[in-house]
Amino acid sequence: MIPYGHQSISQEEIDALSDVLKSDWLTQGPKIPEFEHALAGYCGSQYAIACANGTAALHIACLAAGVGAGDIVWTSTISFVASANCARYCGAEVDFVDIDSTTRNISVSALKAKLFAASNNNCLPKVLVVVHFAGLPCDLDAIESLSREYGFQIIEDAAHALGSEYKYKKIGACTSSLMTTLSFHPVKTITTAEGGAVLTNNEEIAHKLRCFASHGINRDSRDFSDPQFKDKMWYYEQQTLGFNYRLSDLHAALGLVQLRKLESFIQKREILFDRYCEKLSDISILKLPITTRLNGHRTAWHLFVIELENQELRERVYQILRDKEVGVNVHYFPIHLQPYYRALGFKKGDFPEAEDYAAKALTLPLYPALTYEQQDLVISYLFEALG
Ligand SMILES: Cc1ncc(COP(=O)(O)O)c(C=O)c1O
Repeated sequence: MIPYGHQSISQEEIDALSDVLKSDWLTQGPKIPEFEHALAGYCGSQYAIACANGTAALHIACLAAGVGAGDIVWTSTISFVASANCARYCGAEVDFVDIDSTTRNISVSALKAKLFAASNNNCLPKVLVVVHFAGLPCDLDAIESLSREYGFQIIEDAAHALGSEYKYKKIGACTSSLMTTLSFHPVKTITTAEGGAVLTNNEEIAHKLRCFASHGINRDSRDFSDPQFKDKMWYYEQQTLGFNYRLSDLHAALGLVQLRKLESFIQKREILFDRYCEKLSDISILKLPITTRLNGHRTAWHLFVIELENQELRERVYQILRDKEVGVNVHYFPIHLQPYYRALGFKKGDFPEAEDYAAKALTLPLYPALTYEQQDLVISYLFEALG
């Protein structure tokens, strides 16, 4: 099977894990702050808080933004369900914004229109979770300007976009947002097996994130509510309800090695992306990802998604490629049409661009270890399937 995504692990990662296993620390040791420091340095943010996975990162990001019952959170319906579920974990309502059919990211014009209507109806979102789909950065300037006009906070879900750049800044620099979340799931640009992080430039938010990721516990004696414990080394205070969403030293050690290799991983993804575009550009019935490269922008392509003419053709091509042991996939079935969200009142027709895209989308394999021979095989099977 040629999967659609796969991790790249070598002896260096195995050695790093083995070193941790032989050390005194398996969980909260020195590798975590080292990884956090490296991540913040790479992305250009002041703080990085490592956590158990990208879903946990989104959950604590929403909590730190103050999302709770009675609030509304908006996101793109073309994403993994975690981008919306994070708000539901906090007891908030979720609504979606349609996508731009060229970028497959949140449509700025749809967002603008929806915000205008929501402000008239008194139901503006507290937070907008923007998703840099497949690694392609959203139009952050336009979204930030809307956030100022309508008073909502931005959380960037950059699970797909570690290494991408927007206007000469890395995604994760949080220049337009309050926080950016990452996932290090094995198909992502780097992996820690399970793992995630939240980036921010706001000290108070960073403090809240650490607290939510570790049971709501605060160990800083300056913050203790009871002065009699100020000089007690053994004391800690649980000041809010948090979770055990911590990353371990083993995962962080893996992440440190992977982060050093990120640039080479991205470069290989870029080469494979260009090869797909070049070899598939003659098939007029295929819609390829956007290839425009603006100055100062970079896409660390996480997924290579083509669109077929219609759903029937997509299903046929999907099955033919699967039968040939090519692990094509669909990213994503619209979140609002998942049974859980349908039960909350969403229905077919609510977000037509997203539904149209999702009916035709097919993800082809893209990962650093994919060989040109394997990629050519995938392309030849695709040509065959298209007759
Ligand atoms: C856009 C997006 N957000 C969030 C997540 C959640 O990340 P994790 O699987 O690490 O919990 C994913 C993972 O697939 C994702 O693709």
